[in-house]
Amino acid sequence: CGIVGYVGNQDALDVVLNGLRRLEYRGYDSAGVAVLADGGLAAEKKAGKLANLEKELGERPLPESSCGLGHTRWATHGPPTDANAHPHLDNPGRVAVVHNGIIENFARLRAELTDRGHELSSQTDTEVVAHLLSESYGECGDLAAAMREVCGRLEGAFTLVAVHADQPDVVVGARRNSPLVVGVGEGEAFLASDVAAFIAHTREAIELGQDQVVELTRAGVSVTGFDGEPAEVRAYHVDWDASAAEKGGYDYFMLKEIAEQPKAVADTLLGRIDAEGQLTLDELRIDDAELREVDKIVMVACGTAYHAGMIAKYAIEHWTRIPCETELASEFRYRDPILDGRTLVVAISQSGETMDTLMALRHAREQGAKVLAICNTNGSTIPRESDAVLYTHAGPEVAVASTKAFLTQLVACYLVALYLGQVRGTKWGDEIGEVVGELARIGEQVDEVLATMEPVRELARGLADKGTVLFLGRHVGYPVALEGALKLKELAYMHAEGFAAGELKHGPIALIEDGLPVVVVVPSPRGRSVLHDKIVSNIQEIRARGAMTIVIAEEGDEAVVPYADHLVRVPRTPTLLQPMVAAVPLQVFACELATARGNEVDQPRNLAKSVTVE
Ligand code: G6P
Repeated sequence: CGIVGYVGNQDALDVVLNGLRRLEYRGYDSAGVAVLADGGLAAEKKAGKLANLEKELGERPLPESSCGLGHTRWATHGPPTDANAHPHLDNPGRVAVVHNGIIENFARLRAELTDRGHELSSQTDTEVVAHLLSESYGECGDLAAAMREVCGRLEGAFTLVAVHADQPDVVVGARRNSPLVVGVGEGEAFLASDVAAFIAHTREAIELGQDQVVELTRAGVSVTGFDGEPAEVRAYHVDWDASAAEKGGYDYFMLKEIAEQPKAVADTLLGRIDAEGQLTLDELRIDDAELREVDKIVMVACGTAYHAGMIAKYAIEHWTRIPCETELASEFRYRDPILDGRTLVVAISQSGETMDTLMALRHAREQGAKVLAICNTNGSTIPRESDAVLYTHAGPEVAVASTKAFLTQLVACYLVALYLGQVRGTKWGDEIGEVVGELARIGEQVDEVLATMEPVRELARGLADKGTVLFLGRHVGYPVALEGALKLKELAYMHAEGFAAGELKHGPIALIEDGLPVVVVVPSPRGRSVLHDKIVSNIQEIRARGAMTIVIAEEGDEAVVPYADHLVRVPRTPTLLQPMVAAVPLQVFACELATARGNEVDQPRNLAKSVTVE
């Protein structure tokens, strides 16, 4: 969910709605706002996208105000109805609360409130908080103190922002687990789930830690622990501006983000390879001696980041000879994984707040493993709780389906793999030197791919009424196939599956029928040519059974030509780097199919970009 709070000289409703617009990627099932004015509190909330709420507010405006809050929801408990939308109010409507997370002991707290005579109008955990705050405020007359007191009684994960009609110049926030950042302006202050919500007003931010309460007034910001002690906080300057979080002439964020990939890749490499071709990862914070001791690597991640981790496994094992596993973060801790002080766990996350990944890394650290985060969001929870972090520099990614973050995750994984190779002296010879050189050219090669995408778009438009698309690959091409299928599911809502091409004959080949589109990611015929030859045979096998073959192969690969109904060329790269160029046509393909099918590209149904629940 996305949360915004504001106090200052501007119209609070304007600031809050603009902020929510920037946070809609976090959920778009329903939205709501509340402002303080004329000694009272006015609120409005609506099921559906923010646009529904804005329409409602156009017809029934809220009063002008200098203090307010808002929420955009990704439904977990309770369907996305007007009533379940946030904010939730106490009765008679003096306190408004917005919330991200799940309060686990709310049923008990609710029963206690009812016993004390409170009348609650919904079944939500958030409404319980509104009533508790109202009660506690009645005793202490201070919203921040009431928030601290109430938070002490809540179990679970929550980020809360609240206002009280009796304190019309105060916004209070509390954080446990899910993110909350403070923006500090001149005579104004902001609270949000992500700096994108206030970046148009200020680039000065403060990161809140776990179990902290913040009080915003026009005069400033004060942060305390749940225990009331003043808290230490980290202030930082955001190094990108509002234009980075806008569409900049593209129809969709996704198109813009696909186009930004060459720059994102280059930015992620910047300053990390020196003139001699040696890697300098000074920010890594795990010393070389410890890295030399590592005897096992485990990559944990979800969704697209998981696919980056699957690809990284091939590179890591090849370059470092350290055994590496890649595991879905949501499965990891529940199977009692074998970890110790010599295990390096790499948690990959664009947002840095995916709850499944966070829980996996906490488990890993409890078992004594070292955790390295690969993350795109400065100061987010996952890097904060890790032993070290390597940031990807993709810039803000807004479209729900990940593109540029994925490519930069691959770059970062490869940097880690190469660095481990360098530190441990394994295979640090000609091959790695060459790869470092090739890595520096990947941005340009992605640019070349982007310049030749029109036939892919045309092909996608022609497939808009198909029901199923399959994807095949071998070696690093296998996770690329999985990623191609995931993109299509997310965006086109089509049945799409990725398979290891060698596994085809063990079952999936039964799915092949006349005209079924099958995308095949073909490895380079240079280097590991056995792989290449095997997949060319697989293409023939499916074509013989009627499949429409869509072949992604490198320039100069003539062997595939006779069997490709559609041929997509990508530049020559070493096999291990091919995913970075081969993934791009699949992104474009999915994006165009979504558009052709009339789907919303940036906000696919049922999804959210940051999933802060398990
Ligand atoms: C969600 C998004 C996916 C993303 C995954 C992991 O499911 O819809 O696009 O890949 O989370 O996100 P993270 O921020 O941890 O990379």
